[in-house]
Amino acid sequence: MLRTKAVYQNNETERERKHRQQSYRAALEGIVLLENDGAMPVKPGKIALYGAGAAMTIKGGTGSGEVNERYSVSILEGLERAGYTITTMKWLNDYARMFKEEQEAYAAIAAKKIRKLDIINLMAEPFKYPHGREISHEDIEESDTDTCIYVVARQAGEGADRKLDNGEYNLTDIERVNIMKCAEAYKKTIVVINVGASFDVSFVYEIPGINALVYFCQQGTEGGTAFADILSGKAVPSGKLTDTWARTYDDIPFACEYSYLNGDLQNEYYKEGIYVGYRYFDTFKVKPQYEFGYGLSYTQFHMGFVNAVIDKTKATIRVKVQNIGDKYAGKEVVQLYVSCPQNKLHKEYQRLAAFAKTKELKPGEAQELDLDIDMRALSSYDEESASFILEQGDYIVRLGNSSRNTVPCAVISLDNDVTVSKHANICRPQLKLQEIEPPKVAYDDDLQNVVKLTASASDFETVTYEYKEPPVYSDQRVDEIMKRLTLKDMVELVVGAGMFGKTYFTCPGAVGNTTSKIVKKGIINIALSDGPAGLRLQKTSTVTKKGKVKMIDAHIEFMNYLPKLIKKFMFGNPNKDTLIYQFTTAFPVELALAQTWNTELLEEIGRAISVEMAEYGVTYWLAPAMNIHRNPLCGRNFEYYSEDPYLTGKMAAAVTKGCQSIEGNYVTIKHFCANNQEDNRNKVSSNVNERALREIYLRGFEIAVREAGAKGVMTSYNKVNGTYTPNSHDLCTKVLRNEWGFDGVVMTDWFSTGKGLANNGLCMKAGNDLIMPGGRRYKKEILAELKKGTINEKDIRRCAANVLRSILNSNLAKEYKLH
Ligand code: BGC
Repeated sequence: MLRTKAVYQNNETERERKHRQQSYRAALEGIVLLENDGAMPVKPGKIALYGAGAAMTIKGGTGSGEVNERYSVSILEGLERAGYTITTMKWLNDYARMFKEEQEAYAAIAAKKIRKLDIINLMAEPFKYPHGREISHEDIEESDTDTCIYVVARQAGEGADRKLDNGEYNLTDIERVNIMKCAEAYKKTIVVINVGASFDVSFVYEIPGINALVYFCQQGTEGGTAFADILSGKAVPSGKLTDTWARTYDDIPFACEYSYLNGDLQNEYYKEGIYVGYRYFDTFKVKPQYEFGYGLSYTQFHMGFVNAVIDKTKATIRVKVQNIGDKYAGKEVVQLYVSCPQNKLHKEYQRLAAFAKTKELKPGEAQELDLDIDMRALSSYDEESASFILEQGDYIVRLGNSSRNTVPCAVISLDNDVTVSKHANICRPQLKLQEIEPPKVAYDDDLQNVVKLTASASDFETVTYEYKEPPVYSDQRVDEIMKRLTLKDMVELVVGAGMFGKTYFTCPGAVGNTTSKIVKKGIINIALSDGPAGLRLQKTSTVTKKGKVKMIDAHIEFMNYLPKLIKKFMFGNPNKDTLIYQFTTAFPVELALAQTWNTELLEEIGRAISVEMAEYGVTYWLAPAMNIHRNPLCGRNFEYYSEDPYLTGKMAAAVTKGCQSIEGNYVTIKHFCANNQEDNRNKVSSNVNERALREIYLRGFEIAVREAGAKGVMTSYNKVNGTYTPNSHDLCTKVLRNEWGFDGVVMTDWFSTGKGLANNGLCMKAGNDLIMPGGRRYKKEILAELKKGTINEKDIRRCAANVLRSILNSNLAKEYKLH
C-alpha cells in the first residue's frame, strides 16, 4: 500500500496562488537598483529586449538548490503581461534556437559522462547559457524604440566554482559588443544582471551610455512580474546588496589564491582572517564599486537620529525615516554599524550591528524605528585566553543606508574590559596560519555633537562553558521505544534509508528518508527534502500497479540528460500508470531573499515553506544554507545569504522561526561549516584560525540556533583545519551543544562519509547523529568501528535517541501513530 500525500489532481490550488504572491513580494524587495540616471521607471510602451536572461530568465541555481515549480515568469513574459511591447522578437527567437542547439550538444556530452558514471562532474558542470548572436543594425532599426533592456544571465551550482577566464564572472566579448551597440543606439539602455552572485560590472563605467543597472539576481517563480512592476514604477526598488561588489576581482583579499586559481585544491588558507567582505574593504581602505548595504530607490529618504538609551548591556537607537520624495511610495533600510576600540585585539573598521526595514512610506510619510544593539555581540575572540572580550573604550555607532553612507549618531563608552564568555580552544590549526596584517585603524570622526552613553563592565556577566559529554536524551516516550531497540536497530536509526531504499511513507522527490526497517517497533520513516529556495520535490510522478513511484519530471535538472535506457528504468510511463502531483513554490534564491533586508518577510516565507512541508509530509527541510560569501566565485553563493555573519544569522533565524512555527517541522541549517568553495569540496581543508572561524564562519549558525532554536544541522563536505566536520567533536559537540545548547539532530551532507572521507563510526563519537542518505555499507562501517573499540555503544545510543526524538515529534509520526 502506498502511503503518500501527493495528490491525484493537478489544478492550481489556493495555497499555490497565495505562495506565488509571497514569492512575488520577496522578488520585488530583493531586486537592487545599482545605477539610475533617471531612465527608470519606464512607462509601458515599446522595448528592445536582448540578452540571455530575457526570455530564458534564470529563476534559481542548479543542483540540490533547485525547486520544481509549476511555472515561472520570465522577464519577457513579465514585461508583456504588464503591457510592454517587445520589438526584438527576431533576436530573441534566434537566441531560443541557439539555446536549443547548445542544449542538445550538452545532452550528448552529458550522456557520455553518465555512461562513465561521472555524475558528480555532470552536476558540477551545469548547462551554460549561450550569450546570443551579435545585435545587427536591422535589429536596432526594427525595434523602433528608444529604450533597450539587456539581460545578462549566468548559471552556477553545487560541485564547482565559477571560473574567472570564461565569462562566468564578467561579460563575454559578444555581450560587451552588444551592450556597447545598445548604449550607442538607444536613448535609454538598462542593463540587468540575472546572476546568483556578485558580478564584475566595471563595464558600466567603461561603456558610455548605460543609463541604469539592475541587479536582478535570481528571483524565483514571479521574478519577471516583479521586474516589470519595478520597471514601470508600479513598485519601487528597496533591495540592498548583502555583499561588497569589488571594482576588480583582484581587489578581493587573496583573490588569486581562491579555489582552483592557485592550483591547490587540497588546502584553502583563510589568510584574510576576519577581514572578509566590507570588513576588508573598509579596514584596508579599498574602494569598492558598490558597497555592502547599497541600493537605490525611485524616491529619497531622510534618516534622522532621534535618541539613544542604554539599559545595561543593550543600547537602543531610535531613528526617524521620512520619505522626502513627492512621487513614489517606498521602503528604506536603516543600518547601524559599530566601530569598536582598537586595543589589544585589532578589529575591523566597523561591523553591522543592527538593521531594520521601514514599512512602505508614502511621499511625506515618516516612521520611527527602534534598533537594539546587543553589546555582547560587539565582542571579539581572543585566541590566547579562549574568550570573547569587549575592550574598554568608545564604541562609535554609525547610522545610514549603506556601509559607506553613514554618520556617527552615538558613542557608547565602556568603562572597563569585559570577558563576555570563556571557551575552550577549538579546531586547532595544524600550523597557525599567518594572517594578513591590518593597518592601524584610527577613527577621526567629529563626535562633539553625538549622544554619549556609558556602559558599565559590572553589568556584564561572564558565561563560562562546560564541556561535558551530553547525556543520552531521555523522556518517557523515547525511553519506552529505546528499550525495545537492539543495537542493530539503533544503527538502523542513525543511518538513512539510502537514496533508493524502500520506505513506509513516500514523498516523491524527497532526497532522503530515515529508516523504515523498524516500523514493527513503532518507528516510521521521515522524509528530508532540499531547499533553500523552496521545497524541492517531484512535481509529477506515476504509481505503478504494484505501488512503485517513478518520476515524470526530473526533480533535479541533470536527470533530464540521463541516457534513454536509464530513464526507462527510472522514469514512469504516464500513459500506463496513475499520475500523482506535488506543486511547491520557487521563492527567490537566498541571496535575493537577504537583499530584501526584511526579516518579517523571510519569516513569512519560512512559514509558507513549512505549510508545503506539512502538505506533502516532509519533516526536515534541508535549509537554510548559510555559508559566508568569502569569494564571489563560489558556485553556491546564490544559496547563501551574505558576506556578513550577523545579517546571515538574522536571515536564517527568521526563516527558521517561520518554518518551525509548525510543530514537528524542522529546518536543517547547513553546511556546518566553512564550506566556502565547491571545487574539490569533498576533500579540501578550510584552514582557518579560531578567531575568524568563530567570528565569521560560525557566528551566523550561532544566531540561528540561539535565537530561533534550529532543530537540524547539516555538517559540510570539507575539512576544517584537517578534520572532516562530521568527525569534529569540537564542532558537533563542544560548539553546537555545549556552547550553544543545540538539542536537535546533526546529520551529514549527502555521501560525505566512507573510504577516504569522514569516518562513519567517528561521526557517532563526534556528535553527528545521522549519516545521510545512508545505505548498507555505512551501517557495516559503524559496526566495524564499534568492534575495533574506537567508538562505544553509548555513542550510538546517544545519536539514536536524538534521531528517535525528532521522528516521534514529527507530524508524520503523529499521523501514522504506530506506538
Ligand atoms: C548538497 C546539500 C544537499 C544534499 C541533498 C548535497 O550535494 O551539498 O546541500 O542538501 O546534497 O540533496
